[in-house]
Amino acid sequence: MADGQSVFITGATGAIGTALVASLSERGWRVLAAGRRSEAVERATFVALDLTSGASIGDAAEEARSLLGGQLDALVNLAGISADGPLELVSPDAMRRAFEVNVLGQLALTQQLLPLLRTATGRIVNVGGAAGQLTLPLYGALSASKAALDAVTDAMRMELAPQGVRVAYVEPGAVRTGFFARSAADAEGFHRPDPDLERRYGSAIAAAGEAVRTGRAIPVERVVHAIERALTARSPRARYKVGLDARLGVPLLTHLPAVIRDRILLRSLGVSAASLGAG
Ligand SMILES: NC(=O)c1ccc[n+]([C@@H]2O[C@H](COP(=O)([O-])OP(=O)(O)OC[C@H]3O[C@@H](n4cnc5c(N)ncnc54)[C@H](OP(=O)(O)O)[C@@H]3O)[C@@H](O)[C@H]2O)c1
Repeated sequence: MADGQSVFITGATGAIGTALVASLSERGWRVLAAGRRSEAVERATFVALDLTSGASIGDAAEEARSLLGGQLDALVNLAGISADGPLELVSPDAMRRAFEVNVLGQLALTQQLLPLLRTATGRIVNVGGAAGQLTLPLYGALSASKAALDAVTDAMRMELAPQGVRVAYVEPGAVRTGFFARSAADAEGFHRPDPDLERRYGSAIAAAGEAVRTGRAIPVERVVHAIERALTARSPRARYKVGLDARLGVPLLTHLPAVIRDRILLRSLGVSAASLGAG
């Protein structure tokens, strides 16, 4: 795919998104940068988008149609949130919001932009995460929604390839951004109000939060590079795993017996069985 092509990016206002917008704009792409915070977008056309709102998704697609005149070369679905905490504590609203942002809203947007993508023989790049391949305790909402996005991407790849629309999945491991700091700060709003449960899970939540925020992580540029490869390769791969954890650690762990894998995962998050069982 050559310079001067158009790309619509969700999650364009986040850490990976702003780096991707800057890099693609520099290379001459016409970038439509979507998110809720216009102030985070420079050197690109901002498109207001709240993925939890059907009306906002419809407006954003309409804006893309009127700006681009019927043809879109690429869509990058990069928006994502977590709803941290053990599943007993995560509120139904927070679970719903995670699925709306990570899967359902992006699918609805993709459906509305597909006629433009089909006209351009364009491509779709969905950004999931290793947490969708390997379920993390205390991040069940993130893992479940990213696993769903993974399946949606697989189905779309097979359904759309015969129509000339290529679909790729970028699957990063841990990336150095404020993603988990933000979700930890929001965690109070994710939880059902239940002081007993907060007490029961409190030390496990704190330990896991500390582990994901301070663990080894790759720089944002590595993910940007993988997305750009998926956008520009003559024949994009189905899947781009980014980082040693996504490429080696996760596949290795998924092949272990569950009883061993569970223990390793809990330990890597600094969560002891006692901290989960203590009433
Ligand atoms: N950081 C990591 O360790 C890591 C690892 C693997 C995969 N990923 C994935 O990479 C992607 C980007 O992550 P990041 O680290 O750059 O996170 P980030 O800085 O927190 O960015 C998240 C993006 O999602 C957007 N978003 C959140 N709620 C939205 C909503 N209701 N409607 C529309 N957009 C919404 C935000 O837009 P506004 O700010 O404008 O609301 C923001 O642009 C996510 O899909 C994440 O799951 C991250």
